[in-house]
Amino acid sequence: MPAYVVVGTQWGDEGKGKIVDFLTERVDIVARYQGGNNAGHTVVISGEEYILHLVPSGILHPDKVCVVGNGTVIDAEILAQEIADLERRGTEVAGRLFISENAHLIMPYHKLFEKMQEEMKGANKLGTTLRGIGPAYTDKADRAGIRAGDLLDETVFRSKLESNLKLKNAIITKVFGQPALKVDEIIAQYEAYAERLIECLADTSLILNEALDAGKMVLFEGAQGTMLDVDQGTYPYVTSSNTVAGAACAGTGVGPTRINGVIAVVKAYTTRVGAGPFPTEQGGEVGERLREKGHEYGATTGRPRRCGWFDAPLVRRSLLLNGATSIALTKPDVLGGMDSIKVCVMYRCNGAEVRCSPENAGLLGQCEPIYEEVDGWAEDLSSCSNFEQMPPAAQQYFRYLEDLLDCPISIISTGAARDNTVVLREPFFEG
Ligand code: GDP
Ligand code: IMO
Ligand code: MG
Repeated sequence: MPAYVVVGTQWGDEGKGKIVDFLTERVDIVARYQGGNNAGHTVVISGEEYILHLVPSGILHPDKVCVVGNGTVIDAEILAQEIADLERRGTEVAGRLFISENAHLIMPYHKLFEKMQEEMKGANKLGTTLRGIGPAYTDKADRAGIRAGDLLDETVFRSKLESNLKLKNAIITKVFGQPALKVDEIIAQYEAYAERLIECLADTSLILNEALDAGKMVLFEGAQGTMLDVDQGTYPYVTSSNTVAGAACAGTGVGPTRINGVIAVVKAYTTRVGAGPFPTEQGGEVGERLREKGHEYGATTGRPRRCGWFDAPLVRRSLLLNGATSIALTKPDVLGGMDSIKVCVMYRCNGAEVRCSPENAGLLGQCEPIYEEVDGWAEDLSSCSNFEQMPPAAQQYFRYLEDLLDCPISIISTGAARDNTVVLREPFFEG
């Protein structure tokens, strides 16, 4: 049976959690393949809001299995809290959540390093989530990482930690001027909260491949967005992992021939948290209106999100980077009540008009949006249960976006709740 990827196409917070939760009904396993608790995926069920940071959004369906793949980075303390919160609210996690032994651990020094690095950058800081994500991936690439499976043997865990702390403590004391971290204190902390993580450890690559062999269906849940990909995004204003759909394979140990389609989550306008170029950003009344009506405040850090008009050149680049087979369009309801809606259809860049955002993201800051204006609608979309019930101007807007992006829309989300969802065409088709 096939596997599909749900991936964000902008700078994160497109509504991936909502779309994954909606699609989970029809799959057997949901798997995260990258990122860590920098993500904040919101799911609303019967008026109850859940914000998932590391646990896949599929966990709220009690009969489904969830996997956290080798490409993720895990803060054991936050994971333990997240599991405890879910259980307190009635979602049983034991026996349904499997975590790769090869996923890397976020250690206390990663969070400290990130804080100091951001402070030292001053005005040039990236505006990260300060969750230790970048330093954890740095250590992974440097082959100095400690993996979740290392928790199974205290001797191994201690020896890796001791080895790492030599260099880390030299920097912490001599460069940052802070007290050295102590091996025994870190081990004692880990003993307190790593139990839940250890219970979940499994050979997740085998679980996923055997499930696919047995005819089960797997949904990969992307975190962050394509423009935050460390290679393809707006570097250096990105996260430290590959967020694109292709990373689902390396991040879970499943081969590319298993993946049949990619559902690209596209927000009907654009938002961004943290620093970096944003050609269609609207600082004034429009930005404020989108932020307030769309509740655009970070699900992880609570920071107000920067808001702006829809950016077709940016999303065109994302769709091709991901090999998208269809679009799940989210939050068009937030545009309701506007007389007209602006859409950036092209960029003017170095004197030329371009349809696709430049591969060299350094040029993005010099790209000037070229806008078209389309009619808005006054009606509330969230009560529409099919396309025909939607106001004609909204229908026109959706067709217009499909034309601009040259990709079919399979799902339109009209509100945060599970049932505020209209399916236009089958999202699980083979691309
Ligand atoms: P994610 O990180 O991509 O999962 O997205 P977030 O959860 O960080 O941000 C999306 C926000 O929009 C959340 O508050 C969702 O509950 C909400 N949301 C998702 N889809 C819709 C929609 O179609 N309309 C509205 N109004 N809100 C939505
Ligand atoms: P979800 O999965 C939006 C942003 C941060 C910062 C940059 C680097 O909810 O869409 P990091 O802590 O990853 O090193 O920060 O990336 N960022 C996100 N922005 N949604 C996210 O996740 C994000 N995860 C990281 O704001 O600009
Ligand atoms: Mg989010």
